[in-house]
Amino acid sequence: MKNVAQCMTVRIILVFIMTCCKRFTLLALTLLTTLPVVASDTTESRQPIMLSATEKQLVLAEMRIFLNSVQQIVDGISRDDMVQVAAAARRSGLAAQATVPQTLAAKLPLAFKKLGRDTHAKFDNLALDATQLGDGEHSLQQLNALLQNCVSCHAAFRFE
Ligand code: HEC
Repeated sequence: MKNVAQCMTVRIILVFIMTCCKRFTLLALTLLTTLPVVASDTTESRQPIMLSATEKQLVLAEMRIFLNSVQQIVDGISRDDMVQVAAAARRSGLAAQATVPQTLAAKLPLAFKKLGRDTHAKFDNLALDATQLGDGEHSLQQLNALLQNCVSCHAAFRFE
């Protein structure tokens, strides 16, 4: 019940943002369409991935960098600071993934690795286009596509 109430509140805020700011319509729409999935997900259907405590820490730290990049990208687009957009996206690019140890890589399912790699690559593309095109609307569309990777992986896997 609490979840549903929170979800309604978030939806109202998102609709408000959509009507106020055309720029974020795309992002708000993405969040709106993913919310019902989050709210109704009370049964556990995600595939568990068994990791050691250290390995889990490493992957979750990478996740927090992802989230930080997303926040910095949205902030950059909102202020038309495409230098910040590019720098934030690059921090989550393929170069950041190179530090994953072989032992950890061996424990991750192929589908997980493919989605992870594709997400890093999408950040790199976003960085490149932000530098070369400097078009905030385009970056926002790229971010929307990228966030769909976050959503689908989170729906499919969990760590244990
Ligand atoms: C390849 C799969 C995958 C992708 C892609 C992915 N994540 Fe995750 N993420 C996970 C898993 C698995 C967890 C752990 C969930 C659990 O165990 O309940 C997680 C956890 C997190 C956490 C929690 C971190 C913590 O400290 O507990 C954050 C934040 C996060 N992800 C953000 C993101 C963002 C933002 C994106 C997209 C830019 C993203 N993730 C993309 C798989 C993924």
